[in-house]
Amino acid sequence: MIIPAGSGIPPAMTGKPSPSRPDRPIRTFGRVGGRALSSRQQALVEALLPRLAVPEALEDPADLFPGLREVWLEIGFGGGEHLAEQARRHPDVGLIGCEPFIEGMAKALTQVEAGGLENVRFLMDDARPLVARLKPGSLARVFILFPDPWPKKRQQKRRLIQPGFLDDLHRACRAGARIRFATDVAGYADEALWQFLRHGGFDWQAEGAGDWRVAPEDHVTTRYETKKLGDCAPVWFDFITQ
Ligand SMILES: C[S@@+](CC[C@H](N)C(=O)[O-])C[C@H]1O[C@@H](n2cnc3c(N)ncnc32)[C@H](O)[C@@H]1O
Repeated sequence: MIIPAGSGIPPAMTGKPSPSRPDRPIRTFGRVGGRALSSRQQALVEALLPRLAVPEALEDPADLFPGLREVWLEIGFGGGEHLAEQARRHPDVGLIGCEPFIEGMAKALTQVEAGGLENVRFLMDDARPLVARLKPGSLARVFILFPDPWPKKRQQKRRLIQPGFLDDLHRACRAGARIRFATDVAGYADEALWQFLRHGGFDWQAEGAGDWRVAPEDHVTTRYETKKLGDCAPVWFDFITQ
């Protein structure tokens, strides 16, 4: 189901621009700066990141990975453990990682350099404008792992999973693409599942609790996941785009 204009859903729920800041969508992430980077990390951000950065006007992500069979996207990769390991396991796939937090980016760059990974590109920014402009059908897999939960009621408009974002995500994915969403916050799990299913373009094939309560076999444990900051055990929703 595509949410029609005039559906009565407030702009904050659609990921549309904030009425007070029409130039910017409501921010879904927290801090972008952190502790000072080590000199090694700083050097990677200055020298390696520009070489691996997604160009501003990119539309077809396959252009970044000539000869590779498909493109995957990870939104909010944190410290990059999952992104780097998936890239190592799948050298025939191109991975784009988006993360506005510079410390996370520096950690991911460190892993990419140490692993000699050539199939990773980065965007140190909000993933949503990228997803919105990507060529339709250009992504085969998307990971959204432990997105910022924004647990307080008044902050929930900041959650990444909103109808407008799901429209863009669905358009950017090819039919049969796999989307993985994980969280350890019960309220976000309920809301995200409802939003994905309500959209109508994401099929959820879970048959029993084991399909969403147990980490998928190909999952790589993330740093945030190990902190167990949420109010429930992690849940894993794997969707397939129709
Ligand atoms: C709670 S952390 C989890 C990080 C990582 N996935 C993990 O499990 O360790 C969520 C991350 O998503 C990033 N993030 C939030 N909104 C984003 C967006 N619109 N685009 C890209 N990254 C985003 C944040 O900066 C933050 O690092």
